[in-house]
Amino acid sequence: MQKKYSSLISELREKLKDCNTTHDLVNIKSEYLGKNGYITNEFSKLRNAQESEKKKLGKELNILKSQAHDIILNTNIINNKTKERFVDVTLPGKNVCVGSRHPISITINEITKILESHGFTPVTGVEVENEYYNFEALNIPESHPARDMHDTFYVLEGKLLRTHTSSVQIHTMLNKSAPLKIMTPGKVYRCDSDPTHSPMFHQIEGLYIDKGINFCHLKGTLIAFIDEYFGKKMEIRFRPSYFPFTEPSAEIDIKFKGKWLEVLGCGMVHHNVLKNVNINPKQFSGFAFGLGIERLAMLKYGITDLRMFFENDISFLSQFERAE
Ligand code: DAH
Repeated sequence: MQKKYSSLISELREKLKDCNTTHDLVNIKSEYLGKNGYITNEFSKLRNAQESEKKKLGKELNILKSQAHDIILNTNIINNKTKERFVDVTLPGKNVCVGSRHPISITINEITKILESHGFTPVTGVEVENEYYNFEALNIPESHPARDMHDTFYVLEGKLLRTHTSSVQIHTMLNKSAPLKIMTPGKVYRCDSDPTHSPMFHQIEGLYIDKGINFCHLKGTLIAFIDEYFGKKMEIRFRPSYFPFTEPSAEIDIKFKGKWLEVLGCGMVHHNVLKNVNINPKQFSGFAFGLGIERLAMLKYGITDLRMFFENDISFLSQFERAE
């Protein structure tokens, strides 16, 4: 390198020793590398240089420029006097962490995909519901003890936060005529909070109404669904149960780590419910089921506290980045 260029670098180093602020640093940078800076001006000399010299001189200038650049950029690291950090806005940006799908959304997508393959069409409903659709139309009159089990959040006179997605059955049957085959994923609310309960949680309801539907259709569909969701043949039992809107009713338990665990409720739609939505029970029959999304996600991913889904702890949520 030409002597004058090496002394230029030494001179730059000297100057930087007395540089204490970002402002000083920016000035020094422009003195050497700015539009009218010393090094930049040296480049313009290339034009008039002799052809034989051009290549050599160009190379030297490029080395000089990148050396000066590096020295200036590293000043804040090597020179303790520079208290403020020098930010070079021309540097490439840092990676921004992109979000991933929430485990509950992943589970809803998985479940709806399976049910869709069995012919169920997605339908949504309202979360602030009339008492009638949440209870009466589902064969749960006011005096019925089942109402107490629902720990309802009442909002205004006659209105409540739906305690289950079963209310969507009623809206759909009233709006569309039989036959129909629907699933309704969504949020539901109950006044309850502990490791396995949250005041807001998610359910999916399934409903299939057609001529000649019987308990065999219900069993076949739900057994296939559970095996598909868990990705293997599961040990399942149908346990007789009671729901006012189905008769007969059952709950499905699966054998999980040696224990029977309840996963969903189901049954044949009660003839009173069909009558409430003007469907003739002598002509049509159907089955319904309702399941808790969080419960199925907990079983699949081995989560023991349901509230973790809603604490929004990034280290918990980021574990599901590749679950889909
Ligand atoms: N709605 C019930 C609940 O939230 C779940 C349920 C049970 C839905 C049986 C159904 C059913 O459609 O047939 O506990």
